[in-house]
Amino acid sequence: MKTKTFRAMVVEEREDKRFVRTIRQRRVGDLPEGDVLIEVHYSSLNYKDALSASGNKGVTRQYPHTPGVDAAGEVVESTDTRFKPGAQVVVTGYDLGMNTDGGFGQFIRVPADWVVPLPATLSPQESMVYGTAGFTAALSVFRLQELDLTPDKGVILVTGATGGVGSIAVSLLTKAEYRVCAATGKETEADYLRDLGAADIIPRSELLDTSGRPMLKARWGGVVDTVGGAVLATAIKSAQPHAVITTCGNVGGAELPITVYPFILRGVSLLGVDSAACPMAKRLQVWEKISGPWKLKNLDRLSAEISLDELDADIDRMLQGQLTGRKVVNLSK
Ligand SMILES: NC(=O)c1ccc[n+]([C@@H]2O[C@H](COP(=O)([O-])OP(=O)(O)OC[C@H]3O[C@@H](n4cnc5c(N)ncnc54)[C@H](OP(=O)(O)O)[C@@H]3O)[C@@H](O)[C@H]2O)c1
Repeated sequence: MKTKTFRAMVVEEREDKRFVRTIRQRRVGDLPEGDVLIEVHYSSLNYKDALSASGNKGVTRQYPHTPGVDAAGEVVESTDTRFKPGAQVVVTGYDLGMNTDGGFGQFIRVPADWVVPLPATLSPQESMVYGTAGFTAALSVFRLQELDLTPDKGVILVTGATGGVGSIAVSLLTKAEYRVCAATGKETEADYLRDLGAADIIPRSELLDTSGRPMLKARWGGVVDTVGGAVLATAIKSAQPHAVITTCGNVGGAELPITVYPFILRGVSLLGVDSAACPMAKRLQVWEKISGPWKLKNLDRLSAEISLDELDADIDRMLQGQLTGRKVVNLSK
């Protein structure tokens, strides 16, 4: 097996400090140490992959590197009794695709503690429509519900709504009977967002408050924020008393220009969401929801399948904020 070769995206840093992505042959023997060798059938594109694939050293310290924080496939070899050859499995997060070779290659080798059995009601392809983005959207909804945010508490705002996390959050919240307001920078995607279930759609610019006021008119019963920065700050200032807000992303900025007033005068709760290091017990609970009561019927509408060769262009589009929905990578294509 060690000498077997496979196709993978390799990101390299050139002498002029440019990062270049190529698809080429790698050897199984060159994968990192680990308990479980997996033949990857599907992966998916997440924002963190786009950062890793463009030389962001906050995500990936050393190059050459194969990104891909998600992988679904079949166990080929395992030194851990929990996973037998032939088992269908999913790996998302942990260090996969960051400083461990990831799912943009036809094989990965990982610690057994990172591996989740593929839920029986999901195909490998469907599991990757969710992937890290869908898992994060589900974890966000899970956290809202942990704080008793029920549909009668008001409209839920989803920011970055046409993105991977945003699209699945809109769909999951709609399925759970919340009224969803989708905030987007893409005027052309209103039909897509309505199809996913958004009742209201607002332009991103409406969430870029420049008044300097610590609080604004109360609008949101809850918020799933994927954007951060000024957008999240405006959402917090516009939250209703006792609203619950989740934060998972920073495409719009990492700064949070707010005061404590929404928290101490309106009792607003701000909850952090981190899917990569989500403990295994909670991880399994969230996959159980995703593949059971929360399973979506519109997975085709939410995603498009691409090959390894088509990834390069979509990585650039993602970095420019131009992608809509999820890209599932078929490693056999
Ligand atoms: N904490 C975690 O565990 C976790 C897990 C997954 C993802 N994330 C983070 O969540 C964020 C979204 O990830 P994703 O995979 O959904 O990415 P994505 O598919 O690229 O979606 C991001 C969306 O944000 C909006 N956007 C893009 N640039 C923006 C800007 N400059 N200002 C405001 N909005 C902008 C766009 O939607 P519209 O055009 O509709 O506004 C874009 O489609 C990223 O920051 C990612 O790192 C975190």
